[in-house]
Amino acid sequence: MRRVVCPGSFDPVTNGHLDIIGRTSRLYDEVVVAVLINVEKKSLFTVDERIEMLTAVTKEYGNVRVEKFHGLLVDFCKQQGIPAIVKGLRAISDFDYELQMAQLNYRMSGVETLFMSTNPEYSFLSSSRLKEIARYGGDVSGLVPDLVKELLVERLRG
Ligand code: PNS
Repeated sequence: MRRVVCPGSFDPVTNGHLDIIGRTSRLYDEVVVAVLINVEKKSLFTVDERIEMLTAVTKEYGNVRVEKFHGLLVDFCKQQGIPAIVKGLRAISDFDYELQMAQLNYRMSGVETLFMSTNPEYSFLSSSRLKEIARYGGDVSGLVPDLVKELLVERLRG
């Protein structure tokens, strides 16, 4: 079984994330989407809400499992028997941070990191920008799945 992890905060999942997860699911037998439990970072959605959204929007791929983790990603990989991490790279600005993390993760554990270039349609997209747009009444259609759009608008409307 060739298994890989797509980690992130996914607060919330965007079409950019989904593009990477979907393309990865065609290359591997199983994709484990791992949602970081980060008590230090204020989030819009709880980890369980994010898992619910991810589970719904990745169902059609058929080989995606959604889990949560805390602590080091490489420890989660070890527990789950996962030898590699897939990360989307949007632009050169992502690269420094991602390269450092990939090298540290490899140094700690031998877990490999593979970078997938983001679909240019989503190269400007991030969960933070998305929340900002939605918070001030901008239209996020086409940037997130419809289900996520509805929950986002509902949550931000209070
Ligand atoms: O969506 P994000 O917030 O950019 O995802 C970042 C994530 C969750 C992939 C990254 O912060 C992570 O792996 N955190 C877990 C802690 C860890 O293993 N840090 C790496 C030490 S080199």
